[in-house]
Amino acid sequence: MFTKMSEGTKEEWEHISQEHAPHIMDMPARVIDMLKQLERLSLGFGTNQLHHALQTATMAKRAGADDEMVLISLIHDMGKVVNVPNHGQICAEIIKPYVSDDAYNIIRTHQDFQGEHYYHYLGKPRDLRKNYKNESWFEKAKQFTDEWDQAAFDPNYDTEPLESFIPLIEKFFGFPKTI
Ligand SMILES: [Fe+2]
Repeated sequence: MFTKMSEGTKEEWEHISQEHAPHIMDMPARVIDMLKQLERLSLGFGTNQLHHALQTATMAKRAGADDEMVLISLIHDMGKVVNVPNHGQICAEIIKPYVSDDAYNIIRTHQDFQGEHYYHYLGKPRDLRKNYKNESWFEKAKQFTDEWDQAAFDPNYDTEPLESFIPLIEKFFGFPKTI
């Protein structure tokens, strides 16, 4: 095996590509692991972050949202396992090869939409969502934030368990649209 990429052969690169395949195919398991890690994070809220994720997804599902909206409702705060300040962007980049451009953008900007509900308490502008008012995905982002995400901190809400969302995770993360 080469010690410098510049000295690699076609056979070595074909071998490396083959070795990547099982890792790429294992993406659903990594997403599930990240969601489970959210259970350790409460961050001062009345529910831990896994419960919040499950409640957001359950509310979207019960409202009749399509599969992709339910999926992004479930995984929207997954980036918090890395860091909170840019968690929307972290999650958006993780999911980009697997979802539509609308879903990518809704996750990427969701803190700007969510800020309407609390940024005034933190000395920040509440109207950041106006920057996206001409985007085709604006209404979907608004619905996600206002009807489900901001309303999903009830520890007594009857959330569906993580197991019930595993088929959805496998459907979307089973194979990337681009490699
Ligand atoms: Fe959230």
